[in-house]
Amino acid sequence: MCAHTPHLGVCYYPEHWPEDQWQSDAERMVSAGIRQVRIAEFSWARVEPERGRFDWDWLDKAVEILAQDGLSVTMCTPTATPPKWLVDEIPDMLAFDQNGQPRRFGSRRHYSFSHQGYRAESQRITTAFAKRYGQHPAVTAWQTDNEYGCHDTALSWCVSARDAFRLWLAEKYKTIDALNKAWGTIFWSMTYSSFDQVELPNLTVTEANPSHHLDFYRFSTEMVRQFNAEQVEILRQFSPGRAIAHNYMGMFDQFDHRPVAAELDIASWDSYPLGMLQNMKAAAPLDAQMQSDCLRTGDPDFQAFHHDLYRGMGRLWVMEQQPGPVNWASTNAVPAPGAVRLWSFEAAAHGAEVISYFRWRQLPFAQEQMHAGLCLPDGRDAPAMAEIQQFRAEVQQLDWGATAPAPIAVVYDYEASWMAALDGQSCDFHHLRLVLDMYQAVRQNGGSVDIVGPEADLSGYQLVILPAVLAVSGALATQLENTTAQILIGPRTGAKTADFQIPANLPPGPVQGLAGFCVEQVDALPADQPVACRWGNVEGRVSIWHERGAVTGTAEGQTEDGYPLMIHNQKVSYLTGWVDQKLFKLICAEQMKKAGLVVHDLPAYLRVRQRGDMLVFTNYGPSPARIPQSFTGGLLLGDRLVPPAGVAVLSVSG
Ligand code: GAL
Repeated sequence: MCAHTPHLGVCYYPEHWPEDQWQSDAERMVSAGIRQVRIAEFSWARVEPERGRFDWDWLDKAVEILAQDGLSVTMCTPTATPPKWLVDEIPDMLAFDQNGQPRRFGSRRHYSFSHQGYRAESQRITTAFAKRYGQHPAVTAWQTDNEYGCHDTALSWCVSARDAFRLWLAEKYKTIDALNKAWGTIFWSMTYSSFDQVELPNLTVTEANPSHHLDFYRFSTEMVRQFNAEQVEILRQFSPGRAIAHNYMGMFDQFDHRPVAAELDIASWDSYPLGMLQNMKAAAPLDAQMQSDCLRTGDPDFQAFHHDLYRGMGRLWVMEQQPGPVNWASTNAVPAPGAVRLWSFEAAAHGAEVISYFRWRQLPFAQEQMHAGLCLPDGRDAPAMAEIQQFRAEVQQLDWGATAPAPIAVVYDYEASWMAALDGQSCDFHHLRLVLDMYQAVRQNGGSVDIVGPEADLSGYQLVILPAVLAVSGALATQLENTTAQILIGPRTGAKTADFQIPANLPPGPVQGLAGFCVEQVDALPADQPVACRWGNVEGRVSIWHERGAVTGTAEGQTEDGYPLMIHNQKVSYLTGWVDQKLFKLICAEQMKKAGLVVHDLPAYLRVRQRGDMLVFTNYGPSPARIPQSFTGGLLLGDRLVPPAGVAVLSVSG
């Protein structure tokens, strides 16, 4: 086995099961090939049943059993579930929703990141855990809290958030006049004369000022960052040398993850392909055929996208991998036979060091009874168990090189997501969907991608894609000017300044010269009423967003109402609208060729990801898919005709 071979992990809750079961659980984990066990993220009430009275015995024993069997432990801070006695002591620690209602005790994540009293409690319990387990040889990693922001909790509309927001604004703007200018408060007589007058941007009669709302997102990111950083500081002090992770989510943009990740070693995420397919369907336009064809495997690009996103923020782990049906989506299908193995290979192909399944055993009580585990509630193996063992045997046969940068960068900016939502204009404009469409287009052509932030160093990339980076900073514009890479700029890029105003020179603001295009009007459309267009010989559609304006570059393609589709200006191409997927694929293929990259024509649901000298193919479709002849390397695993939910691995040829 080579140094980079991915390991298997599992999420385990000894507190849910009788103690006499723990030993056999640990033994079965070992025989399943599991090496890393995450525990205790919801254990506060059991560890500290009342203030200051700690009951560590059970957790000591559980850790000892795992350790004796040679398992490594990811210990968690338990702050996602503050116990009832604590909430009763400091009731104003509760988060408030946007309608001004408290988010009460009885599930989880019922705290406000801005509440200083709760922040002190978070540090107190973190210190207790860190002192107790920080030096334990089996504890090799930590996880802070659990899924920051889950259940819509990154933003709290409570009094402690309001007070902290005022201080944050005073620090940012220094004078109230500067705030008034940045927010444009002269409009609708919203002018403030002191920071103490500023409320949170909710419960207004109609939409709140978008700059105000944008700043509240930025402030809320800072609260999450501080909360996490406080725990990290304690863990580093009492548990030196251990890697620290947080488990982020899929499709979640309510806070900017990058400043949080900057304090951590591992950027892990929780991968639920089937649940996410259903949630994405509810949130944004999705290809109906794909939705039904991939009901049991998930969107072919969704997992890959998040692996690429989080790998850009730290060492990649999948902290929770779906092992069967989940309980929380609108409908919860059983995965296709082979899908758990497929998802595991997808994670490995993207550089995951650990793939950890949620959860060990399905729980017969409380909120997640219908959520599968690796074992059934009665302890027998669930179907996923055989798949993870097959996966483990197969990954050990392969030579996993270290992950290397991909040739293509897609810039994904959290602030752009907030701005696109706050600016409305078309209710069908779902920022992440646009980013995913362009990302998918690259994958459909066989490309491997890094997802990077707007401040990333872009040198070394052959192709840089900016799908709707709404506020382009001067530094990003300079990098784009200086790079030798091919650049594809997507619609709505440069549409706003950092203060959320239209740029003085009009969009795309600082990249107007580069793009050879100045946006004068936007045709914001319903997704189901597209405008026909033509690009070369190809007919297609533009929907949701189409820009019209003054062209100084070379126009190419046209909508049926007579406006250009693309503008080329040397190494830069600007796409004026949200085109259909067939066009995105062709446009990205052309960009890849211009960048000197090889383009492959993959069957609809077949994808490939390069890792080291290997190409990992994954088939998300319901029928067998053939690897195109353009891939000439030798087979290392599987067959060139990849079965449904199947995997094949080829070597990278010369
Ligand atoms: C995650 C969460 C877990 C569990 C899981 C169920 O969001 O971190 O605690 O609830 O979902 O799929």
